[in-house]
Amino acid sequence: MTAAVVVTAPAKINLVLGVGPVRADGFHALATVYQAIGLFDQVTVTPAEDVTVTVEADPRLTVAGVPTDESNIAVRAARLLADHHGLEHGVAISLHKGIPVAGGMAGGSADGAATLLACDRLWNLRTRREELLELAGRLGSDVPFALLGCTAIGSGRGEVVTPLMTRGEYWWVVLESVVGLSTPAVYREFDVMHEVSPARPPEIPDELISALRRYDVAAVGMHLSNDLQQAALRLRPELGRALEQGRLESAHGAILSGSGPSCLFLCEGRAHALQVAGGLRALELGHVSFAPGPVPGARIVAKEL
Ligand code: C5P
Repeated sequence: MTAAVVVTAPAKINLVLGVGPVRADGFHALATVYQAIGLFDQVTVTPAEDVTVTVEADPRLTVAGVPTDESNIAVRAARLLADHHGLEHGVAISLHKGIPVAGGMAGGSADGAATLLACDRLWNLRTRREELLELAGRLGSDVPFALLGCTAIGSGRGEVVTPLMTRGEYWWVVLESVVGLSTPAVYREFDVMHEVSPARPPEIPDELISALRRYDVAAVGMHLSNDLQQAALRLRPELGRALEQGRLESAHGAILSGSGPSCLFLCEGRAHALQVAGGLRALELGHVSFAPGPVPGARIVAKEL
């Protein structure tokens, strides 16, 4: 029997993405509320001499732009975990993408988190949770949240995560773009917009937290906010029209996911999501799906050891 471990990790969205000034390390201070939603990447690892990665995707997605060399975040994750334990293990990593590439939904971060967990199990390392979270933070700002999942507050550059207890299920319609957006490019545009009046330290509005606590979907929709949205819309103005269409289709809130270009529409429940998705599909703006949140973070779904 071939040893293999299979892990899934979810997409993330930001219910609030407060972006502050650039820090000394070049990253921006963030105050965000993350939610993991039911779109997943799957990572399969098997023992090998060297660390290698192959990438495939759901038929609607393109894997163009996902590197298959040392710069792939899954390769970096495997090497980081091995180094951390003073090992020189190889591993063959196979990524299956269900999260849009460069879509503002942290698909790369999901792969990094899933690979950490998968290699930890394959190599039987039993790394402590806090250590895994720390390693995840070194891989990327959103990687710790991909391990955690559900709903959480993110601070620092996004890598400091604190679980947030919420009630109920949220249904999101997701409009994907065929062409992705580069996160650094959107942050650069944000900086250009704040050259004259620098961004203020970011905060999470109390109204959103209280709406989440009492499961008031309409109020959550009203208080969704994303400080990167204007910057992304300057690069891709057509996304503004897509967001407007979602509001016309009766969504409770319409917002860009992270640095975009995926657009999110908050619905009352599954039936409402079906209706809003149907309306958006008819407009042929891009691939439309829907997913519930919150869902758990990276987890082992199969192992043959
Ligand atoms: O941490 P991660 O690798 O996901 O970040 C990708 C890029 O996004 C960074 O290189 C940086 O340009 C930008 N970024 C930022 N401030 C953050 C997070 C990301 O400027 N808090």
